[in-house]
Amino acid sequence: MEVLFRGDIIAVFRHQGVLFAIDGVCMHQGGPLAKGQLRDGTITCPWHGWQYELKTGCNATTCKPMLKTYEIQEADGVIEIDVPD
Ligand code: FES
Repeated sequence: MEVLFRGDIIAVFRHQGVLFAIDGVCMHQGGPLAKGQLRDGTITCPWHGWQYELKTGCNATTCKPMLKTYEIQEADGVIEIDVPD
């Protein structure tokens, strides 16, 4: 799922029953990470295959931090993402 908030695109995934929110735009050329493949905690961009760790936002190859991650929780069927000012 993809969420647009204050001009930022946030990709939301549920992985092994846990919700994660991460920047939704690939650092390579802007691919839509919400449409990427999620496997073993790693998102693969659908455009050219860059990979990111879902928990940390780090590039899965270089281990460099690249994408922001956000606190996310669900209560009573409502999902809330904590987006800092
Ligand atoms: S835009 Fe994501 S790998 Fe190229």
